Amino acid sequence: MRVANKTALLLCLVVIVSLFSATASEPQRDVESRVEALLSKMTLEEKLGQLQQLDGESNGNFRPEHVELVRKGLLGSTLNVRGAQRTNQLQRVAVEESRLKIPLLFGFDTIHGYRTIFPIPLGEAATWDPQLAERSASIAAKESYAAGVRWTFAPMVDIARDARWGRITEGAGEDPFLGAKFAAARVRGFQGDNYGTPGKVLACAKHWVAYGAAEAGRDYNTTDMSEYTLRSVYFPPFKAAVDAGVGTLMSAFNDLNGVPTSANPFTLTQVLRQEWRFDGVVVSDYTAVKELINHGAAADDADAARLALSAGVDMEMVSRLFNQKGPELLKQGRLSQVTIDEAVRRILRIKFRLGLFDRPFNDESIERNAFLTTESRAAAREIAGRSIVLLKNEREALPLQKNIGSIAVIGPLADDKQSPLGWWAGDGRDTDTVTPLAGIRSKASPQTKVTYAKGCDVLGDSTAGFADATAAARNSDVAIVFVGESKEMVGEAASRSTLDLPGRQMDLVKEIKATGKPTIVVLVNGRPPTIAWIVENVPAIVESWMGGTESGNAIADVLFGDVNPGGKLPVTFPRTVGQVPIYYNHMQTGRPPELNNRYTSKYFDIPWTPQFPFGYGLSYTQFKISNVQLSAAEIPATGTIRVSADVENVGKRAGDEVVQVYIRDVVASLTRPVKELKGFRRITLQPGEKKQVEFQLGPEQLSGYNREMKLVVEPGEFKVMVGSSSEDVIEKSFRVVLGAQASSPAMSKANR
Ligand code: NOJ
Repeated sequence: MRVANKTALLLCLVVIVSLFSATASEPQRDVESRVEALLSKMTLEEKLGQLQQLDGESNGNFRPEHVELVRKGLLGSTLNVRGAQRTNQLQRVAVEESRLKIPLLFGFDTIHGYRTIFPIPLGEAATWDPQLAERSASIAAKESYAAGVRWTFAPMVDIARDARWGRITEGAGEDPFLGAKFAAARVRGFQGDNYGTPGKVLACAKHWVAYGAAEAGRDYNTTDMSEYTLRSVYFPPFKAAVDAGVGTLMSAFNDLNGVPTSANPFTLTQVLRQEWRFDGVVVSDYTAVKELINHGAAADDADAARLALSAGVDMEMVSRLFNQKGPELLKQGRLSQVTIDEAVRRILRIKFRLGLFDRPFNDESIERNAFLTTESRAAAREIAGRSIVLLKNEREALPLQKNIGSIAVIGPLADDKQSPLGWWAGDGRDTDTVTPLAGIRSKASPQTKVTYAKGCDVLGDSTAGFADATAAARNSDVAIVFVGESKEMVGEAASRSTLDLPGRQMDLVKEIKATGKPTIVVLVNGRPPTIAWIVENVPAIVESWMGGTESGNAIADVLFGDVNPGGKLPVTFPRTVGQVPIYYNHMQTGRPPELNNRYTSKYFDIPWTPQFPFGYGLSYTQFKISNVQLSAAEIPATGTIRVSADVENVGKRAGDEVVQVYIRDVVASLTRPVKELKGFRRITLQPGEKKQVEFQLGPEQLSGYNREMKLVVEPGEFKVMVGSSSEDVIEKSFRVVLGAQASSPAMSKANR
């Protein structure tokens, strides 16, 4: 080989190696030494600057007054600043004009899509297919990255059992097991194996913690619960996110048992840092540090900064108390240098891991073609279709024939482009939304006459549109009524005191039904509604959630049978708001409800049972689950039992069933829920096809907390329930025995 060629080869290798290292993770040791080297050069002001996150303008611009802060090294991160050019512009100031050239970290709420909007997370959880959530999060990451965003404030993993709380829409529903699976999947989707890889973003599990249990479903309200409930119900999705490598957590707004969660050493330090060994960053929620004063936990600004920082909050979102009060707290000895340094260290660590020091800028040419690609739209349509839950379908009212003569498409949400995007819609645009009306028009045969009538608004008292709507129904072969909530009614600061359809929508449904035409109701909503009249009187009901950019196409796919609905409810639907909080995995009482016994745990005026249970959902075909078998009658506390069942499609169409496995620890040192989900699988079966599904139940699934708050498998009887919903199950039982395992960590019930 000639020398010139050798040099060329060497150069090539250098380029390849440096390209590779540009995409691979920074080796941990390297990161730690770079962090320490940088930390040793920083002034106190620069350190406190890294702990500060400030808000850009809602249109994505940075605030002009922040430029000087960046230049002086007094700002670590922004939220809402986005767009490849704008983030580059501000980043240039940080890495070219500030003394230590520490790059900024651009954060944004990419919750269920950046520009391509996917179903609301609650809807996505209704797919019971975490891989789909991983896929949508990874598309959302790619689009966010192209727009200069490196950090998303997602996934929201709060368990929510009270549908009055508007933020129930942002999470995976009421169940810790399902919630944990979706939390981990979303973290993997956003971050991949390494959040420093181009096209991936840093994730943030929020809101740490128990924010979903806000009293009376009122947002920002107090939570109060036992450590047992906290650990068994509210922690698991966070733990799953941490185990999946989530880089950051957000401390919440709520007070928890008397200590606000943004100043709570038990949750922020003992659990997160000491028990779970989390080494990433905790950012406070928006002005949550300052709000410690309103809580009555802090006497003044300095006190608030001290409490939050020393409890374990590293970065302050929007309020500026760490910066303003840090120096005086330090001087007075009320805050230690160690605490400040540790917070800075954590922030620098994730900036290094993100590769920001080596690649601070965006390739502005990527942004142009990154959004709403054919593939991302196709994924949005598929996921929206798979999130749809068929709640009722009497006498096979659905699916419709594509060549049906005429259809009346009715309701305030039939042609609404905003609500399908939900509350957090990233940079989604309603001009991109396919409405149900558009979806139906493009799917029905060219000969089908489609008439649209709005009927009424989502909110408001006017019934002026009823006459047109009933006329449209009368003149059509079928009426499809789209009712539910508008996007303003869900999400943050959108608690509701009733779950009924707002405005005159229920009256509209009644009027349409009264025409005598076959009526189908499609729900477009962000939380479980109370729709008892519709359930009793309307033959077909479809829950479409807020399905995102492609929701209209996905709804049409289901209505006309191109997609056979297979979603299941990730949350219990109550009959009336008076039943909430209502959830399937409740504790048993000493007086379980009995129909004919007054002195049991139930209501005087309504049934105690839900309208639709957790895990419920129909299909255009029918499934039979049978032959539930356990691999043993007894296992040791450290052992594993295999559960198998046959699932058969006994109907005439291909379709999906979600097989669900629940357990109950019959007697335990602390009482256990009546049933707990511990496994599920969504499978597709052709007509007549039968498959065996298998699940393993071991210490991870069988353990529960004892009185010392230790996770243990306790000996005794366990029930196993396998079925198609939390209420439609086949029950078996087995025993966990001490035997040879007496020295295992299992605690004998005799020792209680
Ligand atoms: C407040 C919300 O509670 C939180 O979820 C969100 O990430 C921040 N605002 C930033 O927008």
